[in-house]
Amino acid sequence: MGPAPLRLEHCMSPPAEHPIPTAPTQRPPAPLAISVNGKPYYHDGDPAMPLLWFLRDRLRLTGAKYGCGVGVCGACMVLIDDKATPACMITMQVAANRKVITIEGLATDTLHPVQQAWIEEDVVLCGYCQSGQIIAAVDLLRRKPKPGDDDIASIGNLCRCGSYPRIRRAIARAADLMRNVKK
Ligand code: FES
Repeated sequence: MGPAPLRLEHCMSPPAEHPIPTAPTQRPPAPLAISVNGKPYYHDGDPAMPLLWFLRDRLRLTGAKYGCGVGVCGACMVLIDDKATPACMITMQVAANRKVITIEGLATDTLHPVQQAWIEEDVVLCGYCQSGQIIAAVDLLRRKPKPGDDDIASIGNLCRCGSYPRIRRAIARAADLMRNVKK
């Protein structure tokens, strides 16, 4: 005599003493808050997404450019809590609850003195790296209001057109403009 035949109800519903385990309910992560150019935003996507994607693709702030993607060229630089930072290397998780200023948010009623000096020295050639160069210069002049040649040379942003002499002149001019503004 063989085993008793399996009845259909045995297949349909587990015995009460062996309930099927259910996956724990996962709450979606709380949105990340971030301030960009003085306005509050929230990010409810992947916290590992680079800040540069958020700025360019979500907010359509395309001044910061994608160059190397590994934090070397400086084309993507923005100010995070006043410090020039490559946005390609900063995740949304890290950028959360910080103040981000992009090239689009630098001017107030008037151009920032660095932007003014850039125009007066006619710095821009192809233009691709220039927003990053300006952001780096703003950071330098915040830390060193009277920068020496070595200070200016310490900016490591790359320019494929070789506009470095113009950039150096513009930073020196911006330093003068900023001192005059403060008088
Ligand atoms: Fe970010 Fe080059 S693209 S440093």
